[in-house]
Amino acid sequence: MKTILVIAGTRPEAIKVAPVIAELRARAMLNVRLCVTAQHRHMLDQVLDIFDLKADTDLDLMTPGQSLPELASRLLDRLPAAVATAKPSCVMVQGDTTTAFIGALTAFYQQVPVAHIEAGLRTRDPYAPFPEEINRRLVGQIARWHFAPTEKARQNLLREGVPTKQVYVTGNTVIDALLTTAQTVQGLPDELQPQPGQQMILVTGHRRENFGPGIRNLCAALKEIAGAFPNARIIYPVHPNPNVREPVSRLLSGISNIQLIDPVDYPTFVALMLECRFIITDSGGVQEEAPALGKPVLVTRDATERPEAVEAGFARLVGTNTDAIVRAARQLLTDERLYARMSTVENPFGDGRAAERIADVLENDLLAELH
Ligand code: UD1
Ligand code: UDP
Repeated sequence: MKTILVIAGTRPEAIKVAPVIAELRARAMLNVRLCVTAQHRHMLDQVLDIFDLKADTDLDLMTPGQSLPELASRLLDRLPAAVATAKPSCVMVQGDTTTAFIGALTAFYQQVPVAHIEAGLRTRDPYAPFPEEINRRLVGQIARWHFAPTEKARQNLLREGVPTKQVYVTGNTVIDALLTTAQTVQGLPDELQPQPGQQMILVTGHRRENFGPGIRNLCAALKEIAGAFPNARIIYPVHPNPNVREPVSRLLSGISNIQLIDPVDYPTFVALMLECRFIITDSGGVQEEAPALGKPVLVTRDATERPEAVEAGFARLVGTNTDAIVRAARQLLTDERLYARMSTVENPFGDGRAAERIADVLENDLLAELH
């Protein structure tokens, strides 16, 4: 048996590793262990519950309003024992969070090879997204297996000198999670059901580079859209980070067609995506899921590491300028031809079989070491 230790800490990491864990667990000669850092707590637990995942180790590290160095130092303190105890042949990390970066660094210090899921995403701007662009480049320096979701991501890695034979284009595992979950979606609870004639706009946001003016501008735009379109219903599951929650509740509470809610579990969020007319977000995962559900996305960022979304035609980078957001939302609410164009595209992020491809590679390479 060969042991793979999966390290995950946040909501999107858990969603994106869940299908891979399920697939690896189906392989007889692989032993999969899950270490959660709990960089997120409630939002992580929501995902573990839905996917019926139990952590073998839970470091329970989240503190309210944690800073990047505080979290990184707690991870550096606690992860080495988790890795040493599991004695893995491979450590698997996903994406570009602090958990992913310090997880990879910890594995490197113990000379354990690292598998990186969602490898090769780049904006080439170190501060966009911050600190994720540098986190993922650093994981890329350490990883032995680079599982790139798209051909563009593969090209980014090759350009940085990663050997071709270490890069695999797999699709994004979020599509695996989404397609499985979409089959089980029951519909929305009564309080989230739109009234007849309402057009739902779904909103999320949490990027550090948007803290301050970016979030305030977004709120001003949402307020303006809600006022100009009384039949629009804006549903906004608000990220619990105090840097998001405080300005959003201060600026948007009490507006009748804006509904601020706590983060919802994954099936409910999938149901909201299915129900809405379009999405306004700075989320990475949501940009990947939207085309699979035929939903246009206004991306409140100046740069994206997912250029496939813009090229496919379902996503528009609108930044955080209030007027630009209002203008783009107005078009999506009123211009049916534009809407039809942006909601019927081919999903560039995968076919729902990424986990299988990743498991095939790891099973083959790790078991070859046994012979
Ligand atoms: C992190 C990741 C980001 C990812 C995002 C997904 C880093 C540097 N950033 O950002 O890449 O896109 O997660 O959401 O790793 N909080 C709670 N309960 C929770 C989760 C968070 O209260 O379940 C609050 C806490 O106050 C916490 C704060 O949110 O301190 C920030 O969490 P943190 O993981 O540091 O940053 P995110 O902005 O969530
Ligand atoms: N999501 C969720 N509940 C919510 C909001 C989002 O389950 O209330 C899911 C969403 O479908 C996507 C993931 O969380 O799969 C995105 O997480 P987030 O935006 O926090 O992080 P990012 O993808 O930007 O790293």
